[in-house]
Amino acid sequence: MRSAVVRTDRYSRGAIAFHWIIAVAILLNLWLGIAHDSLPRDWRVMPVHKAVGITVLMLSLARLAWRLGHRPPPLPLALPHWEKLTAKAAHWTLYALTIVIPLTGWMMVSNGNPPRPLDWFGLFPIPYLPVSKAVSGVSHEAHEILGWALLVLVVLHILAALRHHLILRDSTLVRMLPILRAPTV
Ligand code: HEM
Ligand code: HEM
Repeated sequence: MRSAVVRTDRYSRGAIAFHWIIAVAILLNLWLGIAHDSLPRDWRVMPVHKAVGITVLMLSLARLAWRLGHRPPPLPLALPHWEKLTAKAAHWTLYALTIVIPLTGWMMVSNGNPPRPLDWFGLFPIPYLPVSKAVSGVSHEAHEILGWALLVLVVLHILAALRHHLILRDSTLVRMLPILRAPTV
């Protein structure tokens, strides 16, 4: 008879879906944000960047709320204490940046000079946030600095995942991949 015990050494489908949808959207937005000056004008780069960013903000808020009620699988037992702490700190920093960066973008354009229209892929308008010119200016600075900080952290995050997979040869990467069905024992 099949046991009802579900192995806990994989991320759940919900965690995996949130992770990869948000990761792809963020990689796209880092590229659009950094390269926007050199990309063709008719791509409507910034309207897409803003709409993708607002979507990331909503998904990340939902993900955070969901994550607070769902524990991730434990890290491999063999991992030294400092590595577990570093991984936890990096993950919570990533959670924070995926919320703060789009929020600073939204605040920046809410009282920008000149004001720019804000909509979700041309389907419906997005309201401006009630912020002063000064706050919008600080948000602009923060958006750029934190955007670059996120890029650095994401590169380190990817290198860490590859180190686990290719050098330590543990299940860290595989348990976050959607291609394998969650095993049951
Ligand atoms: C996933 C979320 C987001 C990421 C990762 C992101 C990242 C970036 C990056 C890296 C830049 C380039 C910074 C630089 O020039 O050095 C940028 C620029 C920009 N972002 Fe975002 N962004 C996000 C969401 C948003 C949102 C939600 C808005 C507005 C609603 C927005 C508006 C802008 C604007 C207007 C610029 C151009 C700033 C300028 O050239 O002065 N971003 N973004
Ligand atoms: C680009 C934006 C990305 C962001 C914002 C991001 C964010 C995160 C966060 C917040 C977690 C922690 C999940 C939790 O335990 O609650 C996580 C886990 C993970 N991410 Fe990413 N990620 C990104 C891209 C990637 C990429 C491209 C890879 C693969 C090369 C990757 C591989 C992993 C793996 C393997 C884990 C599980 C780590 C563990 O079990 O300790 N991530 N990611």
